[in-house]
Amino acid sequence: MQIVHTLADLRRALNPAALRAFVPTMGNLHQGHLELMQMARQEVDKRTPTGGMTVASIFVNRLQFGPNEDFDTYPRTLENDCALLEANGCDVVFAPSEKDLYPEPQVFKVHPPAELADILEGAFRPGFFVGVSTVVHKLFNIVQPDLAMFGKKDYQQLMVIRRMVQQMALPIEIIGGETRRAEDGLALSSRNGYLSTEERAEAVQLSMALKGLAASVRAGNAADQLDVPAAEAAAMDALRQRGWEPDYITLRRQHDLSPVNGPCVEPLVVLGAAKLGKTRLIDNLEV
Ligand code: PAF
Repeated sequence: MQIVHTLADLRRALNPAALRAFVPTMGNLHQGHLELMQMARQEVDKRTPTGGMTVASIFVNRLQFGPNEDFDTYPRTLENDCALLEANGCDVVFAPSEKDLYPEPQVFKVHPPAELADILEGAFRPGFFVGVSTVVHKLFNIVQPDLAMFGKKDYQQLMVIRRMVQQMALPIEIIGGETRRAEDGLALSSRNGYLSTEERAEAVQLSMALKGLAASVRAGNAADQLDVPAAEAAAMDALRQRGWEPDYITLRRQHDLSPVNGPCVEPLVVLGAAKLGKTRLIDNLEV
């Protein structure tokens, strides 16, 4: 496995003829990332028996962090991440410095549509999806992958990226990986490392709240009596009573994340974001 930092070195490391699968990350990798890496390896090997190429990037992208967020404290664990990537089928790690990726202020940006990017995460983290779309578009231009893998844990991010690729006619197939969970059901996240022992024990309650909401949705749909605002409010209240500060716990349509007002037969998803102490966690569950 090669580890490169500059765009010039990456271009030298890429085999122009090989089918290329890409896993963009911000590092501090967990099992969810490693499964995306394994999936990238399997996909290229399946599609090109002569051997494709897998690339991962590790870059903590300042553009997607708000002024009061954790950019400075976000864990940087390059050496360990590279060892894990190598063990999981990665050929090339691209780990640029800020000067390599943003040699001058990034004034050209990708602005995803408000109806997709200013809701949910975008409403609570203004500018987040501009930062994500800009860096992902730039990384796509640099790596020029045929396939790219993103986790479903960041459900809205995956949707924004799919839409960007479709609208910009980027010749890249986007593959979503299932959310990997700890034994108690907590979705794996690089930010789980911020939790104290007590908070870690409590953290599973976010996925429990989503499961509870999903169960009320199924029951309400079956009985043709779904009161969505009441079910969402009950899930948020249950978390508040346990000391959480929920930003949203909500039921949406899978295909465009639009709200649902009553019984609905379309594929749905429940999504939630809430703060436990100083740590903000997100999760979702397809219904
Ligand atoms: O999901 C992430 O880790 C980041 O948002 C991404 C896609 C690597 C862009 O910085």
